Amino acid sequence: MHQKITIEPFRIKVVEQIRLSSDDERRDFLEKAHYNLFLLHSDEVIIDLLTDSGTSAMSAEQWGGIMRGDESYAGARSWLRMESEIKDLTGCAFILPTHQGRAAEHLLYNRIGGQGKVFISNTHFDTTRANIEFSGATAIDIPIEAAHHRDEYDPFKGNLDTKKLEALIKQHGPENVGAVILTVTNNTGGGQPVSMGNARAISDICKAHGIRFILDACRIAENAYFIKHREKGYQAKSYREIAQEMFRLADGCIMSAKKDGLVNMGGFLALNDLDLAVQCRTVLIITEGYATYGGLSGRDMEAIAIGLKEVFDPDYLEYRIKSTAYLGQHLRDIGVPIIWPPGGHAIYIDAKAFYPHIPVEEFPGQALACELYLKAGIRCCEIGSVMFGKNDENGKLIPAAMELVRLAIPRRVYTQSHIDYVVETFRELEQERDRVHGYRITYEPPFLRHFTARFEPVS
Ligand code: F0G
Repeated sequence: MHQKITIEPFRIKVVEQIRLSSDDERRDFLEKAHYNLFLLHSDEVIIDLLTDSGTSAMSAEQWGGIMRGDESYAGARSWLRMESEIKDLTGCAFILPTHQGRAAEHLLYNRIGGQGKVFISNTHFDTTRANIEFSGATAIDIPIEAAHHRDEYDPFKGNLDTKKLEALIKQHGPENVGAVILTVTNNTGGGQPVSMGNARAISDICKAHGIRFILDACRIAENAYFIKHREKGYQAKSYREIAQEMFRLADGCIMSAKKDGLVNMGGFLALNDLDLAVQCRTVLIITEGYATYGGLSGRDMEAIAIGLKEVFDPDYLEYRIKSTAYLGQHLRDIGVPIIWPPGGHAIYIDAKAFYPHIPVEEFPGQALACELYLKAGIRCCEIGSVMFGKNDENGKLIPAAMELVRLAIPRRVYTQSHIDYVVETFRELEQERDRVHGYRITYEPPFLRHFTARFEPVS
Protein backbone atom coordinates (compact mmCIF):
# COMPACT_ATOMS: atom_id res chain seq x y z
CA MET A 1 0.00 0.00 0.00
CA HIS A 2 1.14 3.55 -0.70
CA GLN A 3 1.85 5.73 2.22
CA LYS A 4 -0.56 8.60 1.89
CA ILE A 5 1.26 11.81 1.08
CA THR A 6 -0.56 15.06 1.70
CA ILE A 7 -0.32 17.53 -1.17
CA GLU A 8 -1.98 20.87 -1.82
CA PRO A 9 -5.37 19.75 -3.23
CA PHE A 10 -5.51 22.54 -5.82
CA ARG A 11 -3.80 23.78 -8.95
CA ILE A 12 -2.81 27.42 -9.25
CA LYS A 13 -4.78 29.34 -11.89
CA VAL A 14 -3.83 32.92 -11.06
CA VAL A 15 -0.55 33.98 -9.51
CA GLU A 16 0.35 37.04 -7.52
CA GLN A 17 3.96 38.13 -7.93
CA ILE A 18 6.10 38.19 -4.78
CA ARG A 19 8.80 40.83 -4.91
CA LEU A 20 12.02 39.21 -3.67
CA SER A 21 13.94 41.89 -1.78
CA SER A 22 17.64 41.86 -0.89
CA ASP A 23 19.07 41.92 2.63
CA ASP A 24 20.13 45.54 2.20
CA GLU A 25 16.71 46.62 0.98
CA ARG A 26 15.03 44.95 3.93
CA ARG A 27 17.36 46.66 6.36
CA ASP A 28 16.22 50.01 4.89
CA PHE A 29 12.54 49.03 4.79
CA LEU A 30 12.59 47.98 8.44
CA GLU A 31 14.39 51.11 9.58
CA LYS A 32 11.90 53.25 7.65
CA ALA A 33 9.08 51.29 9.36
CA HIS A 34 10.62 52.07 12.78
CA TYR A 35 11.13 48.34 13.39
CA ASN A 36 7.36 47.80 13.53
CA LEU A 37 6.21 45.16 11.02
CA PHE A 38 2.69 46.63 10.91
CA LEU A 39 4.25 49.73 9.33
CA LEU A 40 5.81 47.83 6.40
CA HIS A 41 4.26 48.00 2.94
CA SER A 42 3.06 44.57 1.80
CA ASP A 43 5.34 44.76 -1.27
CA GLU A 44 8.28 44.79 1.12
CA VAL A 45 7.25 41.38 2.49
CA ILE A 46 8.15 38.00 0.94
CA ILE A 47 6.07 35.58 3.05
CA ASP A 48 3.26 37.24 5.02
CA LEU A 49 2.29 35.29 8.14
CA LEU A 50 0.86 38.27 10.01
CA THR A 51 -2.63 36.79 10.05
CA ASP A 52 -4.81 34.06 8.56
CA SER A 53 -7.74 36.49 8.57
CA GLY A 54 -9.02 37.78 5.24
CA THR A 55 -5.88 36.52 3.52
CA SER A 56 -7.28 33.30 1.98
CA ALA A 57 -7.14 32.59 -1.73
CA MET A 58 -10.62 32.21 -3.18
CA SER A 59 -11.45 29.33 -5.50
CA ALA A 60 -12.47 29.55 -9.16
CA GLU A 61 -16.01 28.74 -7.94
CA GLN A 62 -15.96 31.71 -5.60
CA TRP A 63 -14.62 34.06 -8.29
CA GLY A 64 -17.37 32.77 -10.56
CA GLY A 65 -19.85 33.53 -7.77
CA ILE A 66 -18.49 37.07 -7.54
CA MET A 67 -19.74 37.68 -11.09
CA ARG A 68 -23.18 36.31 -10.15
CA GLY A 69 -23.41 38.52 -7.05
CA ASP A 70 -26.80 40.21 -6.81
CA GLU A 71 -26.38 43.80 -5.61
CA SER A 72 -30.06 44.49 -4.91
CA TYR A 73 -30.62 46.56 -1.80
CA ALA A 74 -33.26 44.25 -0.34
CA GLY A 75 -33.80 40.51 -0.65
CA ALA A 76 -30.84 39.89 -2.98
CA ARG A 77 -30.41 36.37 -4.36
CA SER A 78 -26.89 36.30 -2.93
CA TRP A 79 -28.22 37.11 0.51
CA LEU A 80 -30.83 34.36 0.34
CA ARG A 81 -28.11 31.91 -0.66
CA MET A 82 -25.84 32.99 2.20
CA GLU A 83 -28.70 33.00 4.70
CA SER A 84 -29.88 29.52 3.77
CA GLU A 85 -26.32 28.17 3.92
CA ILE A 86 -25.81 29.62 7.42
CA LYS A 87 -29.22 28.45 8.65
CA ASP A 88 -28.44 24.92 7.52
CA LEU A 89 -25.01 25.03 9.14
CA THR A 90 -25.87 26.70 12.46
CA GLY A 91 -29.51 25.69 12.91
CA CYS A 92 -30.20 29.28 13.99
CA ALA A 93 -33.42 31.03 12.98
CA PHE A 94 -32.16 34.62 12.63
CA ILE A 95 -29.06 35.52 10.60
CA LEU A 96 -27.58 39.04 10.61
CA PRO A 97 -24.88 39.76 8.01
CA THR A 98 -21.99 42.03 9.08
CA HIS A 99 -18.84 43.30 7.40
CA GLN A 100 -16.63 41.25 9.74
CA GLY A 101 -16.58 39.43 13.07
CA ARG A 102 -16.06 42.38 15.38
CA ALA A 103 -19.11 44.20 13.96
CA ALA A 104 -21.23 41.19 14.98
CA GLU A 105 -19.53 41.25 18.40
CA HIS A 106 -20.40 44.91 18.80
CA LEU A 107 -24.07 44.29 17.94
CA LEU A 108 -24.43 41.44 20.41
CA TYR A 109 -22.21 42.38 23.36
CA ASN A 110 -23.43 45.94 23.40
CA ARG A 111 -27.00 44.61 23.83
CA ILE A 112 -26.31 41.90 26.41
CA GLY A 113 -23.28 43.46 28.15
CA GLY A 114 -23.06 46.50 30.40
CA GLN A 115 -21.96 47.36 33.93
CA GLY A 116 -22.18 44.46 36.38
CA LYS A 117 -22.24 41.69 33.73
CA VAL A 118 -19.51 39.10 33.38
CA PHE A 119 -18.65 37.09 30.27
CA ILE A 120 -16.78 33.81 30.61
CA SER A 121 -14.75 32.14 27.85
CA ASN A 122 -11.99 29.62 27.20
CA THR A 123 -10.21 32.72 25.89
CA HIS A 124 -11.82 35.89 24.56
CA PHE A 125 -10.18 37.06 21.34
CA ASP A 126 -8.91 40.68 21.71
CA THR A 127 -11.79 42.28 19.79
CA THR A 128 -14.30 40.17 21.75
CA ARG A 129 -12.79 41.30 25.04
CA ALA A 130 -12.62 44.89 23.81
CA ASN A 131 -16.31 44.90 22.81
CA ILE A 132 -17.34 43.39 26.15
CA GLU A 133 -15.21 45.80 28.18
CA PHE A 134 -16.37 48.73 26.04
CA SER A 135 -19.95 47.92 27.14
CA GLY A 136 -18.84 48.19 30.79
CA ALA A 137 -18.87 44.42 31.42
CA THR A 138 -16.02 42.16 32.53
CA ALA A 139 -14.42 39.37 30.45
CA ILE A 140 -12.94 36.34 32.25
CA ASP A 141 -10.78 33.67 30.57
CA ILE A 142 -10.76 30.14 31.98
CA PRO A 143 -8.83 27.82 29.65
CA ILE A 144 -7.92 24.39 31.07
CA GLU A 145 -4.66 24.09 33.03
CA ALA A 146 -2.79 22.39 30.14
CA ALA A 147 -3.17 25.59 28.08
CA HIS A 148 -0.65 27.25 30.41
CA HIS A 149 2.06 24.67 29.74
CA ARG A 150 3.93 25.10 26.47
CA ASP A 151 5.13 21.53 25.99
CA GLU A 152 2.24 19.60 27.52
CA TYR A 153 0.32 17.55 24.95
CA ASP A 154 -3.44 17.67 25.27
CA PRO A 155 -5.65 16.63 22.35
CA PHE A 156 -8.07 19.45 23.19
CA LYS A 157 -5.87 22.13 24.66
CA GLY A 158 -8.48 24.76 23.71
CA ASN A 159 -11.08 23.45 26.18
CA LEU A 160 -12.73 25.60 28.82
CA ASP A 161 -12.34 24.60 32.48
CA THR A 162 -15.89 23.58 33.44
CA LYS A 163 -15.13 23.35 37.18
CA LYS A 164 -14.02 26.96 37.16
CA LEU A 165 -17.12 27.83 35.11
CA GLU A 166 -19.43 26.43 37.78
CA ALA A 167 -17.49 28.23 40.52
CA LEU A 168 -17.69 31.55 38.64
CA ILE A 169 -21.44 31.15 38.05
CA LYS A 170 -21.90 30.57 41.79
CA GLN A 171 -19.66 33.53 42.65
CA HIS A 172 -21.31 36.07 40.33
CA GLY A 173 -24.85 34.66 40.20
CA PRO A 174 -26.26 33.25 36.93
CA GLU A 175 -28.33 36.41 36.36
CA ASN A 176 -25.11 38.43 36.07
CA VAL A 177 -23.46 36.19 33.50
CA GLY A 178 -23.99 37.91 30.12
CA ALA A 179 -22.93 34.81 28.21
CA VAL A 180 -20.48 31.95 28.13
CA ILE A 181 -18.44 32.28 24.93
CA LEU A 182 -16.63 29.29 23.50
CA THR A 183 -13.94 30.24 20.97
CA VAL A 184 -13.43 27.40 18.46
CA THR A 185 -10.68 26.84 17.79
CA ASN A 186 -9.13 28.82 20.61
CA ASN A 187 -7.02 31.36 18.71
CA THR A 188 -4.67 31.85 21.66
CA GLY A 189 -2.00 29.20 21.51
CA GLY A 190 -2.35 28.76 17.77
CA GLY A 191 -5.88 27.53 17.28
CA GLN A 192 -6.04 24.76 19.84
CA PRO A 193 -9.19 22.66 19.39
CA VAL A 194 -12.19 22.32 21.69
CA SER A 195 -13.81 18.89 22.11
CA MET A 196 -17.48 18.16 21.54
CA GLY A 197 -17.55 16.76 25.08
CA ASN A 198 -16.42 20.11 26.45
CA ALA A 199 -18.98 22.03 24.35
CA ARG A 200 -21.73 19.65 25.51
CA ALA A 201 -20.77 20.01 29.17
CA ILE A 202 -20.81 23.81 28.85
CA SER A 203 -24.16 23.67 27.09
CA ASP A 204 -25.62 21.57 29.93
CA ILE A 205 -24.27 23.91 32.61
CA CYS A 206 -25.62 26.96 30.77
CA LYS A 207 -29.05 25.35 30.31
CA ALA A 208 -29.25 24.38 33.98
CA HIS A 209 -28.63 28.01 34.99
CA GLY A 210 -30.52 29.75 32.18
CA ILE A 211 -27.31 31.33 30.83
CA ARG A 212 -26.79 32.20 27.16
CA PHE A 213 -24.14 30.10 25.34
CA ILE A 214 -22.46 31.70 22.31
CA LEU A 215 -19.94 30.11 19.92
CA ASP A 216 -17.18 32.25 18.44
CA ALA A 217 -17.05 29.97 15.43
CA CYS A 218 -14.62 31.56 13.00
CA ARG A 219 -12.44 28.41 12.77
CA ILE A 220 -15.15 25.77 13.34
CA ALA A 221 -14.20 23.65 10.30
CA GLU A 222 -10.60 23.35 11.50
CA ASN A 223 -11.98 22.42 14.92
CA ALA A 224 -14.20 19.73 13.35
CA TYR A 225 -11.09 18.14 11.82
CA PHE A 226 -9.54 17.63 15.26
CA ILE A 227 -12.78 16.21 16.69
CA LYS A 228 -13.12 13.67 13.89
CA HIS A 229 -9.52 12.50 14.34
CA ARG A 230 -9.12 12.76 18.12
CA GLU A 231 -12.49 12.35 19.85
CA LYS A 232 -14.19 9.00 20.30
CA GLY A 233 -17.42 8.52 18.39
CA TYR A 234 -16.81 11.02 15.57
CA GLN A 235 -14.73 9.02 13.08
CA ALA A 236 -17.74 8.15 10.92
CA LYS A 237 -19.24 11.66 10.89
CA SER A 238 -18.49 14.24 8.23
CA TYR A 239 -16.75 17.48 9.19
CA ARG A 240 -19.87 19.42 8.40
CA GLU A 241 -22.04 17.15 10.56
CA ILE A 242 -19.61 17.65 13.44
CA ALA A 243 -19.78 21.43 13.05
CA GLN A 244 -23.59 21.28 12.82
CA GLU A 245 -23.73 19.28 16.05
CA MET A 246 -21.56 21.82 17.87
CA PHE A 247 -23.55 24.81 16.61
CA ARG A 248 -26.75 23.20 17.90
CA LEU A 249 -25.38 23.03 21.45
CA ALA A 250 -25.25 26.85 21.56
CA ASP A 251 -27.91 29.57 21.61
CA GLY A 252 -26.21 31.52 18.89
CA CYS A 253 -22.89 32.27 17.27
CA ILE A 254 -20.63 34.90 15.84
CA MET A 255 -18.46 34.12 12.88
CA SER A 256 -15.80 36.13 11.14
CA ALA A 257 -16.04 34.63 7.64
CA LYS A 258 -12.50 35.93 6.99
CA LYS A 259 -11.20 32.64 8.43
CA ASP A 260 -13.16 29.47 7.70
CA GLY A 261 -15.54 31.32 5.36
CA LEU A 262 -12.58 31.40 2.93
CA VAL A 263 -13.27 35.01 1.97
CA ASN A 264 -11.45 38.30 2.28
CA MET A 265 -14.25 40.14 4.08
CA GLY A 266 -17.47 39.27 5.87
CA GLY A 267 -19.09 37.87 8.96
CA PHE A 268 -22.42 37.24 10.67
CA LEU A 269 -24.34 36.94 13.90
CA ALA A 270 -26.77 34.02 14.21
CA LEU A 271 -29.38 33.83 16.97
CA ASN A 272 -32.44 31.85 18.01
CA ASP A 273 -33.88 34.44 20.36
CA LEU A 274 -36.38 36.57 18.41
CA ASP A 275 -36.38 39.50 20.86
CA LEU A 276 -32.61 39.76 20.92
CA ALA A 277 -32.39 39.34 17.13
CA VAL A 278 -34.84 42.24 16.64
CA GLN A 279 -32.81 44.48 18.97
CA CYS A 280 -29.54 43.61 17.24
CA ARG A 281 -31.10 44.00 13.79
CA THR A 282 -32.20 47.55 14.64
CA VAL A 283 -28.61 48.50 15.43
CA LEU A 284 -27.41 46.56 12.37
CA ILE A 285 -29.58 48.74 10.12
CA ILE A 286 -28.32 51.92 11.80
CA THR A 287 -24.63 51.02 11.76
CA GLU A 288 -23.90 48.35 9.12
CA GLY A 289 -26.59 48.37 6.46
CA TYR A 290 -30.03 46.97 5.69
CA ALA A 291 -30.91 43.58 7.21
CA THR A 292 -30.31 41.65 3.97
CA TYR A 293 -26.76 42.82 3.34
CA GLY A 294 -25.31 44.26 6.58
CA GLY A 295 -21.94 45.66 5.59
CA LEU A 296 -21.53 43.39 2.57
CA SER A 297 -21.80 43.58 -1.21
CA GLY A 298 -23.92 40.95 -2.93
CA ARG A 299 -20.74 39.45 -4.42
CA ASP A 300 -19.21 39.10 -0.93
CA MET A 301 -22.30 37.20 0.24
CA GLU A 302 -22.15 34.91 -2.80
CA ALA A 303 -18.48 34.10 -2.04
CA ILE A 304 -19.29 33.40 1.63
CA ALA A 305 -22.10 30.99 0.70
CA ILE A 306 -19.64 29.05 -1.48
CA GLY A 307 -16.69 29.30 0.94
CA LEU A 308 -18.72 27.87 3.83
CA LYS A 309 -19.35 24.76 1.72
CA GLU A 310 -15.79 24.39 0.39
CA VAL A 311 -14.17 24.65 3.79
CA PHE A 312 -15.65 21.31 4.88
CA ASP A 313 -14.12 19.43 1.93
CA PRO A 314 -12.14 16.54 3.48
CA ASP A 315 -9.14 16.97 1.14
CA TYR A 316 -8.97 20.68 1.91
CA LEU A 317 -9.11 20.16 5.70
CA GLU A 318 -6.56 17.35 5.55
CA TYR A 319 -4.16 19.64 3.66
CA ARG A 320 -4.90 22.59 5.94
CA ILE A 321 -4.28 20.90 9.28
CA LYS A 322 -1.39 18.74 8.02
CA SER A 323 0.42 21.75 6.57
CA THR A 324 0.20 23.67 9.85
CA ALA A 325 1.46 20.56 11.67
CA TYR A 326 4.28 20.24 9.10
CA LEU A 327 5.61 23.69 10.00
CA GLY A 328 5.22 22.99 13.73
CA GLN A 329 6.90 19.59 13.59
CA HIS A 330 9.87 20.84 11.56
CA LEU A 331 10.43 23.82 13.84
CA ARG A 332 10.30 21.55 16.86
CA ASP A 333 12.73 19.11 15.23
CA ILE A 334 15.36 21.84 14.89
CA GLY A 335 14.88 22.89 18.50
CA VAL A 336 12.61 25.93 18.17
CA PRO A 337 10.42 26.15 21.30
CA ILE A 338 6.79 26.17 20.09
CA ILE A 339 3.45 25.71 21.79
CA TRP A 340 2.77 22.00 21.48
CA PRO A 341 0.90 20.37 19.80
CA PRO A 342 0.39 22.53 16.68
CA GLY A 343 -3.14 23.89 16.38
CA GLY A 344 -5.18 24.65 13.28
CA HIS A 345 -4.13 27.98 11.82
CA ALA A 346 -0.87 29.11 13.39
CA ILE A 347 2.32 28.17 15.16
CA TYR A 348 3.31 30.10 18.28
CA ILE A 349 6.99 30.43 19.20
CA ASP A 350 8.18 31.09 22.73
CA ALA A 351 10.58 33.98 22.02
CA LYS A 352 11.72 34.25 25.66
CA ALA A 353 13.02 30.67 25.45
CA PHE A 354 14.49 31.27 21.96
CA TYR A 355 16.39 34.40 23.08
CA PRO A 356 16.91 33.82 26.83
CA HIS A 357 19.58 36.55 26.94
CA ILE A 358 17.11 39.30 25.93
CA PRO A 359 15.24 40.70 28.97
CA VAL A 360 11.44 41.11 28.60
CA GLU A 361 11.95 44.91 28.87
CA GLU A 362 13.73 44.63 25.52
CA PHE A 363 10.95 42.58 23.90
CA PRO A 364 12.38 39.23 22.75
CA GLY A 365 9.26 38.65 20.60
CA GLN A 366 9.83 41.90 18.73
CA ALA A 367 13.49 40.91 18.28
CA LEU A 368 12.49 37.56 16.74
CA ALA A 369 9.88 39.18 14.50
CA CYS A 370 12.50 41.67 13.23
CA GLU A 371 15.13 38.93 12.69
CA LEU A 372 12.68 36.84 10.65
CA TYR A 373 12.01 39.84 8.47
CA LEU A 374 15.64 40.92 8.08
CA LYS A 375 16.84 37.42 7.31
CA ALA A 376 14.12 36.34 4.90
CA GLY A 377 11.33 38.90 4.48
CA ILE A 378 8.95 36.85 6.63
CA ARG A 379 6.36 38.95 8.45
CA CYS A 380 4.79 37.64 11.65
CA CYS A 381 3.13 39.06 14.70
CA GLU A 382 4.52 39.63 18.20
CA ILE A 383 2.06 38.50 20.85
CA GLY A 384 3.85 39.39 24.03
CA SER A 385 4.76 42.48 25.98
CA VAL A 386 4.59 44.83 23.00
CA MET A 387 0.95 43.83 22.45
CA PHE A 388 -0.20 43.12 26.00
CA GLY A 389 2.44 44.66 28.29
CA LYS A 390 1.53 47.75 30.29
CA ASN A 391 3.60 50.41 32.04
CA ASP A 392 3.14 51.09 35.75
CA GLU A 393 3.02 54.64 37.12
CA ASN A 394 6.84 54.79 37.13
CA GLY A 395 6.99 53.71 33.48
CA LYS A 396 8.24 50.23 34.42
CA LEU A 397 7.00 47.40 32.19
CA ILE A 398 4.39 45.01 33.58
CA PRO A 399 5.11 42.20 31.11
CA ALA A 400 2.60 39.93 29.36
CA ALA A 401 2.26 36.35 30.63
CA MET A 402 4.35 35.03 27.70
CA GLU A 403 6.57 36.47 24.97
CA LEU A 404 5.18 34.80 21.86
CA VAL A 405 5.52 35.21 18.12
CA ARG A 406 2.69 33.95 15.91
CA LEU A 407 3.19 32.50 12.46
CA ALA A 408 -0.37 32.49 11.09
CA ILE A 409 -0.90 30.60 7.86
CA PRO A 410 -3.20 32.04 5.19
CA ARG A 411 -5.51 29.43 3.60
CA ARG A 412 -4.62 28.03 0.14
CA VAL A 413 -1.97 30.73 -0.39
CA TYR A 414 1.50 29.31 0.26
CA THR A 415 2.94 26.01 -0.96
CA GLN A 416 5.16 23.58 0.88
CA SER A 417 8.30 25.18 -0.55
CA HIS A 418 7.29 28.52 0.98
CA ILE A 419 6.92 26.75 4.31
CA ASP A 420 10.29 25.00 3.85
CA TYR A 421 11.78 28.46 3.30
CA VAL A 422 10.39 29.51 6.70
CA VAL A 423 11.88 26.40 8.34
CA GLU A 424 15.29 27.01 6.68
CA THR A 425 15.25 30.58 7.96
CA PHE A 426 14.75 29.34 11.52
CA ARG A 427 17.64 26.93 11.06
CA GLU A 428 19.86 29.94 10.37
CA LEU A 429 18.38 32.07 13.16
CA GLU A 430 18.98 29.19 15.54
CA GLN A 431 22.74 29.37 14.78
CA GLU A 432 22.86 33.11 15.33
CA ARG A 433 20.82 33.50 18.51
CA ASP A 434 23.60 35.05 20.60
CA ARG A 435 24.26 38.07 18.41
CA VAL A 436 20.63 39.25 18.47
CA HIS A 437 19.74 42.31 20.56
CA GLY A 438 16.44 43.59 21.87
CA TYR A 439 14.50 46.77 21.10
CA ARG A 440 13.27 49.80 22.99
CA ILE A 441 10.10 51.79 22.30
CA THR A 442 10.69 55.37 21.14
CA TYR A 443 7.02 56.28 20.60
CA GLU A 444 3.76 54.68 21.64
CA PRO A 445 0.13 55.75 21.33
CA PRO A 446 -2.08 55.58 24.44
CA PHE A 447 -4.13 52.62 23.16
CA LEU A 448 -3.36 49.43 21.11
CA ARG A 449 0.28 50.39 20.95
CA HIS A 450 1.52 47.45 18.89
CA PHE A 451 -0.07 48.77 15.67
CA THR A 452 1.79 52.09 15.55
CA ALA A 453 4.59 52.02 18.14
CA ARG A 454 8.10 52.90 16.99
CA PHE A 455 11.24 51.08 18.11
CA GLU A 456 15.00 51.31 17.95
CA PRO A 457 17.52 48.50 18.41
CA VAL A 458 19.28 48.27 21.77
CA SER A 459 22.96 48.13 20.91
N1 F0G B 1 -12.85 35.96 17.05
C1 F0G B 1 -11.67 35.34 16.83
C2 F0G B 1 -11.38 34.05 17.52
C3 F0G B 1 -10.73 35.91 15.95
O1 F0G B 1 -9.57 35.26 15.74
C4 F0G B 1 -11.03 37.12 15.30
C5 F0G B 1 -10.06 37.75 14.40
C6 F0G B 1 -12.27 37.73 15.57
C7 F0G B 1 -13.16 37.11 16.44
C8 F0G B 1 -12.66 39.04 14.95
O2 F0G B 1 -12.97 38.89 13.62
O3 F0G B 1 -11.26 40.24 12.39
O4 F0G B 1 -13.42 39.58 11.31
O5 F0G B 1 -13.39 41.29 13.08
N2 F0G B 1 -8.85 37.40 14.34
C9 F0G B 1 -7.81 37.92 13.45
C10 F0G B 1 -6.47 37.29 13.80
C11 F0G B 1 -7.76 39.40 13.36
O6 F0G B 1 -5.46 37.74 13.23
O7 F0G B 1 -6.43 36.36 14.60
P1 F0G B 1 -12.75 40.06 12.54
